[in-house]
Amino acid sequence: MNKIVYNFSAGPSTLPKQATAEAAAAIADFANTGIGIMEMSHRTRPVEGMVAEAESLLRELLSIPSGYEILFLGGGASLQFCMVPMNLLGSNASADYTDTGMWANKALKEAKKFGKVNVVCSSKESIYNHIPKNFEQTPGATYLHLTSNNTIYGTQWKEFPKANTYLVCDMSSDILSRPIDVSKFGLIYAGAQKNMGPAGVATVIVRSDILGKAERDIPTMLDYRTHIPEHSMFNTPPVFSIYVVNRVLHWLKNLGGVAAMEKINAKKANLFYDVLDNSKLFKGTAAKEDRSTMNIPFVFREDAIAADKKEAMEKKFLALAQEKGLEQLKGHRSVGGFRASIYNAMPIEGVEALAAFLGEFENLAH
Ligand SMILES: Cc1ncc(COP(=O)(O)O)c(C=O)c1O
Repeated sequence: MNKIVYNFSAGPSTLPKQATAEAAAAIADFANTGIGIMEMSHRTRPVEGMVAEAESLLRELLSIPSGYEILFLGGGASLQFCMVPMNLLGSNASADYTDTGMWANKALKEAKKFGKVNVVCSSKESIYNHIPKNFEQTPGATYLHLTSNNTIYGTQWKEFPKANTYLVCDMSSDILSRPIDVSKFGLIYAGAQKNMGPAGVATVIVRSDILGKAERDIPTMLDYRTHIPEHSMFNTPPVFSIYVVNRVLHWLKNLGGVAAMEKINAKKANLFYDVLDNSKLFKGTAAKEDRSTMNIPFVFREDAIAADKKEAMEKKFLALAQEKGLEQLKGHRSVGGFRASIYNAMPIEGVEALAAFLGEFENLAH
């Protein structure tokens, strides 16, 4: 296709062109071996080296201290909703969970199957449009669980609370978008299919001294301690997905790392929020101080479009956007309207094109 297309999907989402081109080439011939990456055993030097390189690039990019292990596991972020409490939360112990969105809620529901869950705050009543502040932690809770970026509602923890013990965080939709202080976290997990690579692999960064404390017989594959000594190769890992992660990490390093990425992300997000804040037709749905740099939900202003015309106008907006190569802008059903996901790999030109289109549509609508 010759048309320029910008993909604003919330996930799987746009990846750096360089990384997908390298992945396409490696499907035919990986590392000059004459064998495609999907056809090669994980017990070979080129694959082992590639996975080790992905691990060390991630360690470098996020300044992951010693004492932390990096794993690439199957099952997505959703499997981590159960692996985390299964490994960390004793059946007589409790953990604090923050209820900041649908994914956070799924994580806490799953944790209830393994121990006591204290929901220390929730913004559910206001359709998760903000991050609750000033909540109390429970004395003796094993960990405090956060979702750093709420993909559906476009809210993001700008500062992480200090946990009484350690933080556990689902960073699926903003990992590698900004520098973080890993030492505040006992465990970080993220599905790859937003900022890291394709679906099929989840990254886990875990401080090894927190493991082995929940007295429970953990199935072998679900025990982090199975995978650590095997460097994610206890069984056949999702090699192709990890390869794409490897290429994305190279791309990010060449760009200047997460500090440079944070600046670019701020520029892209500010550009788009400015358009929303100055629009008579559109408005953002998230509380200003908690606005995400990754996912921007927006809707028509109630005073601009009559309720009975809204659905037809939304359809028109999405159809015209698609004609212009601006894809996947439909909002999640729980928020309605539209959502622009502008992850690391979304070029600023994509955000500029979308901003210009909003202006054109506004003129058309008035
Ligand atoms: C914040 C967050 N957590 C978890 C998930 C679920 O990830 P997976 O589909 O890899 O299980 C998503 C998916 O969009 C997400 O945005």
